[in-house]
This record gives sequence, structure tokens and C-alpha cells, in this order.
Amino acid sequence: MCSSLIAKEVTESLLNVQRMASRIEKLSHISSGQGPGVTRLAYTESDERATQQVEEWMIAAGMVITRDQFHNVIGRYEGTDVSAAPVVVGSHIDSVPEGGAYDGVLGVLAGIEVVQELSTRGMRCIRPIHVMIFRDEEGVRFQAGLIGSKGFTGLLREQDLQLQDEKGITLAEAITALGEDESITTVIVKQPNIASYVELHIKQGPLLDEYKIPCSVVNGIAGAARYRFKVVGNPGHAGTVPMALRKDALLAAAEIILAIEQQAILHDSLVATVGHLSVLPGASNVIPGVVEGSLDIRSLDEQLIKSSIATIIQVCEQICRLRGVDVSFTCVGYSPPVQASKRMISLIESVLAQHKITALPLVSGAGHDAMVMGAITEMGMIFVRCKEGISHHPAEYVDISDMEVALDVLFGVIYQLAND
Ligand code: GLV
Ligand code: MN
Ligand code: MN
Ligand code: MN
Repeated sequence: MCSSLIAKEVTESLLNVQRMASRIEKLSHISSGQGPGVTRLAYTESDERATQQVEEWMIAAGMVITRDQFHNVIGRYEGTDVSAAPVVVGSHIDSVPEGGAYDGVLGVLAGIEVVQELSTRGMRCIRPIHVMIFRDEEGVRFQAGLIGSKGFTGLLREQDLQLQDEKGITLAEAITALGEDESITTVIVKQPNIASYVELHIKQGPLLDEYKIPCSVVNGIAGAARYRFKVVGNPGHAGTVPMALRKDALLAAAEIILAIEQQAILHDSLVATVGHLSVLPGASNVIPGVVEGSLDIRSLDEQLIKSSIATIIQVCEQICRLRGVDVSFTCVGYSPPVQASKRMISLIESVLAQHKITALPLVSGAGHDAMVMGAITEMGMIFVRCKEGISHHPAEYVDISDMEVALDVLFGVIYQLAND
């Protein structure tokens, strides 16, 4: 049905960017933080409230919604061939603490607008279209990331269910708390059969802004490894234990963090971050006994990630030996670098060209659900300019005229994929 309606009507877009912008604004107020920006950590009350709100919009757009065992949301817009593998468009709506309003949200809401446009016109494509919300992309609460997309694709590991947040709540318990009768005990899922995956996302860096391009195509996404490290020293009285006799876990951690920086700056194409530390017992008059920290390390070069981690662990063990403390590293998440499929890149480029946009091929340093979906199907991404590339920050901002162009491009891409 769609194919006969293509050309004329679809060029006169009914895509409602104002509605999308006001929904982004509405979601930005569903936040659990007192501070500025959006704080919607995965599987928390605010995350669930936002998810239910987006589900309502999916239903209003003509989709039938279901959730999988990880509470990923699947909004299905039926195709004329009900047995055809669907085209999936998705992203996430969880956030970092005091993050921005567009990260992830833009991609999910843009997918809904595309479906809304089709259903308003009474159009169906050949393939079903699934709009998806993946849970816990950010990985702040359990420090792992891409939990929902990994669960959906069968890439989550059994032990990941036992990851704990700061309060000792496990991932399994957090998922169960959303209303399951029984605790989730397995990560085994039937691998979904998906025709292709497309994700629209803000460009979390300045390139599009610098080149004054509203949106463009992504060639590849850097791989990311996440580790937790634990330094165990000896707590003691801050006033009585002489400096020479101390086994201060925080001093060792300080050296570790600087050693990680030294390792990262050896390579232009590698970044490494220690973004979270907890110091125990955490009192001003007690020598730190235990420090737990996070390590996030990324590159497009998989070998470089692996060799750098091996070196970092070796160097840190040496630092800790000299200080008489113990250190251990545990991998809590790994996603290899991925390339967008050639077919998706050229499709996105051709739709960009229809909108008189010269594609600037981009590489993503940030992680996205697309990197996981890319393991099971062909994947493509569209990046949208955001002001000065500022992201993971309350000042994250996308101009409405850029959103309008990006929506048109996404529509063109999904339309072609779903009729192929
Ligand atoms: C999250 O946005 C990430 O890239 O880790
Ligand atoms: Mn994101
Ligand atoms: Mn993010
Ligand atoms: Mn991300």
C-alpha cells in the first residue's frame, strides 16, 4: 500500500516537530534530581514514569506495545506483510545524573513521530516498524551500560543480573521491582529476527556544529570496556597512625587514576575515564581502607582497548604492591567497536542528499544501543547537531529546525527500509 503512495504525499510532510519538541520538554520534567537537568537513572521510579508516558504516545500513534523480560518497550506498527522481519528504530530514555533532555529521548520520540505520520495518513509499509525504548543505556546505576539492548539481543551475561547499585540492589531486583511476579533469573532469550536497526541520536561532540550541518551519517562507533576496581588497604586513626605505617587505599587509588591517564594519553585514539569513586569508611578522621572505582576505556581500535587494559592492570598492580595494598579489576561491560552497514550508510547519505545535505561521515565516541543491535542486524545511525556538542549536561540543546530536518531524514530512511 505504501509504495503506491510514496512520492507526492510523503514529500509534503505532516511530521509534527512542535509536538515532538513539547514532548521532549515534558519528559525533561520527569526527573528525580533536585539539581539542574534531567536525572532519570535506569529502572528507577522516574525512569518508569517516563517510560509509561512514552508508551501512551506510542499507543496514540497507532502502535501495539509489549515489553520483554528486561522491560525494554517494543511499539509495533503492523506492516502489510505481518510475517516480515521488522525494521527497528530505537534509543533510550534513561539519563546520567543532571544530564540533558535530548540524549536518547530524541531518537525514541522521532521514531514515534515517523509512525504517527504513517498512521495519520492511513499508510502501512510492507514490513512492520518497531519503535523501541532500551532500558539502562547509560549504565550509571549499575556501572555497566547497554543493559537493555544486550538483554534484548541475548548478549547480557548471567552474572550481570547480580550487578549491584550503590544501595546493594541487584539489577535482577531492580527489574523485578517494576512489577514482575517472579524474579528474573535468566538472560537467555530467543534472538530476535530484525531486518535492520536505525537510531537517531544527538551528536555528543562539536563537529556538526562546527561544520554547520544539521544532521549526518555515522560510520562507526568506538568500542567501550567498563571495569570496576577495588583497592583494599587498612583503615585507621587519622591522628595516630604515622604516615610511614599507613596503607591508605585512597592514595593508591590516586596513583592508579594518574597512571590510567598516562596510559590513555599515549594514544590519540584512546580515551579512559575514572568517573566514579567510593571511599570507605568515608570519614574525615579515618584513613581510607577501601576504594572502589570505575574505569571506562574506549577506542575504535579493539586491540588497543585490550592491550591498554592489560597494561593498566599490570601498572596498577605494581603501584599497589609498592604501597602494600591489594587491587582487583572486574570487567562489568564490554562492547566491541562496530561499523554501520554499507547499505545503511549509503541509504542515509542518499536521503541526506535529497535534503541537500552533504554527508559528513562521523565516528561516535559515545556508546549507543546501535552498537549492540549491530551485532545481530545491519545498523545505521543518524546524528543530529546539538549546540556546541554539549551533552551529559543540563545545557544540552537541539534547535527545533535541526529536529525538523532530522525527522524528515529519519522518515525517508525508515520508509525505504520498511518497503524493501
Ligand atoms: C553513554 O552515553 C555512554 O556513551 O557511555
Ligand atoms: Mn544516548
Ligand atoms: Mn548518554
Ligand atoms: Mn550513550
